[in-house]
Amino acid sequence: MSMQDSREAAMIGRRTDGTTVRRPLSPHLQVYDMMQMSSLSSILNRATGIAWSAGVLLLVWWLVALALGEPAYQAAMTAMAHPLGLLVLVGMTVAAWYHTLAGLRHLNWDIGRGFAIPSMYRSGWAVFIGTVVLSVLTWLPAIPGAIEWIVAQINAHS
Ligand code: HEM
Repeated sequence: MSMQDSREAAMIGRRTDGTTVRRPLSPHLQVYDMMQMSSLSSILNRATGIAWSAGVLLLVWWLVALALGEPAYQAAMTAMAHPLGLLVLVGMTVAAWYHTLAGLRHLNWDIGRGFAIPSMYRSGWAVFIGTVVLSVLTWLPAIPGAIEWIVAQINAHS
């Protein structure tokens, strides 16, 4: 068996009789059902970890703007109060809660508990439902203001 590329070395094994054999490739991601509780909750944990990493940069921007003074702070607040800015902030809240709750689920696994399939489903649902409840609670104080704003927009355009 000839080797054109040194990476090929990892693909080549030897039978007990010494003859070489090309190892099979493991199947690619498409063969898995991504909508199962196990894979979906895992994918979301990585996605929310990445989203939250980007999101904290926004919070740093807000803090730096606060330290820089009135004009910088006003600019940051205007951007964040824009409907798109608010959408990003709400998304970050959801990502942060999901990632924290899923992280606690991981900590439970790390002490060797909760691996049975029914338990894995229960903790997965707890993370999903907990994320919704905690995100709504986080934004609860802003909801009356948001409704007022939406009503004002409708009135202004009618
Ligand atoms: C500012 C806060 C945080 C940021 C920016 C963050 C970011 C991330 C990112 C980017 C990943 C993905 C790494 C990868 O896929 O290779 C990750 C994984 C993880 N995070 Fe966080 N994280 C934060 C807070 C937390 C907290 C508070 C917990 C626990 C309560 C936690 C638990 C975990 C766990 C267990 C994993 C790995 C899961 C696995 O084994 O696949 N993280 N985090």
